[in-house]
Amino acid sequence: MDRPSINPLLIRKSLTPYLALILSLATTTGINFAQSLRDDADRRRILIGAAVNPALFGEAPYASTLAREFNMVEPENEMKWGRIRPSQDRFNFGPGDEVVAFAQAHKMKVRGHCLLWSEHNPAWLSKGSFTPEQLSKLLREHIATVMKHYSGEVFAWDVVNEAFLANGTIEPSIWYDSPGIGFAGKGTAYIEQAFRWARAADPKALLFYNDYDTEGLNAKSDAVYAMVKDFRKRGVPIDGVGIQAHIFNIDMKEISSLAANLARLTALGLQVHITEMDVALPLDTTGALLDQSGLTRQADVYRVIATACLQQTGCTAFQTWGFTDKYSWIPGYTKGAKGKALLFDELYAPKPAYNALREVLERER
Ligand code: XIL
Repeated sequence: MDRPSINPLLIRKSLTPYLALILSLATTTGINFAQSLRDDADRRRILIGAAVNPALFGEAPYASTLAREFNMVEPENEMKWGRIRPSQDRFNFGPGDEVVAFAQAHKMKVRGHCLLWSEHNPAWLSKGSFTPEQLSKLLREHIATVMKHYSGEVFAWDVVNEAFLANGTIEPSIWYDSPGIGFAGKGTAYIEQAFRWARAADPKALLFYNDYDTEGLNAKSDAVYAMVKDFRKRGVPIDGVGIQAHIFNIDMKEISSLAANLARLTALGLQVHITEMDVALPLDTTGALLDQSGLTRQADVYRVIATACLQQTGCTAFQTWGFTDKYSWIPGYTKGAKGKALLFDELYAPKPAYNALREVLERER
C-alpha cells in the first residue's frame, strides 16, 4: 500500500508561524531567552567590549568566554606605538591583525587604541631627540599608515589618549611641548591636528578622545568637555569621548555624577564609550581579597556606571579592561595591593559584577 510521504521541508514551513508566535509572545511578556551578556547587549543594541591579548586566544576558556559574552574587542596593547612600530621604518601589524581576525570570526567589532599617547612609546621615539618638524611628520605618517591598514576593520579609534592632568591643564609630552609637533604652549591645538589627520586617513572611522578620572564632574572632565565643545563649534572632526572608568577608590558620590557628565557630552552630539572599566579591590599579601564584601560593592559600581550609560542613547559602548581576573593589569600596576577588578574570576566563573551587568541590561529602560 502507498503511504503518503512526509516532506520535512513542509513540516518546517508549517511550524514557522508557531515559532514566530512563541518568540514574539516571549518578547512581549518579558520572558528572556538571553544566555549571555552578549545576547543582552545585542538585544539592547549596545556594544559590550573587552580589552584583549591575542597571545591568549589559544587558551580555550579565554577564547570561548570572550566570544560568548562580548560583541566588541580592543587590543590591550598591540596597536600602541611601542608594539606596532618597533623601529622607525618597521610596522608590526601581526598581533593587531590577530585581534581583527578573532573579531571577524566571531562577528565582533574592533575598537582601536591608540594613535597618540605620552606613554607606551618605543625608546627610538621617546629618546630620539627629533625636532618638532620631524615629530610632526612622523605622527602624521603614523596615523595615516595605521588607520589605512585597519580601514574597514577598526570602526572607532582612540586618536588621542590621556592628554590632560588632573587639574585640567595639558600634560607635558613629546607630542605637546617636549618638543611637541609645532604647537607647544598652544593648548589643545596639537590634539586638533591629530584629529584632522585621523579624519583624512580614514574618513569612515569614528574618532574618540579617551581619558581616565573623567567619569564624574571634576576639573579634568571639565577640561575635556571644554575642548570637545570647542571642537564641535569649530568643526574639528571628533565623534566621541572615551571615559576609561578605572575605579581604584570607590567614591559613590563622584561616580554618580557620571550621569550629568554623560548628559553634557552627548548633548554636543557626541557619542560616549565607557572604554576601560575595572574596579580594583584591596588584596592581602597572598593575593586574596581583604574583604569578601568587596565583591558586592564592586558589583554596585558596575551597576551604577552601566545604568548611567544605558540611560543615555548617546552612550553606545560599555567595555572592560580585560574580562578575567586571571589576566588584568591591576595587580601589576598596584604592585599586588589591588586586583580582582573584572567580571570573571581566575577560573572564568562569573562574579556578582557580571550578574549586576546582566540585570541592568535586562531591566534598565
Ligand atoms: C595598560 C595595559 O593594560 C598594560 O598591559 C600595559 O602594560 C600598560 O597599559 N590607560 C590606558 C591603557 O589607556 O592603554 C592602559 O593599558 C591602562 C590605562
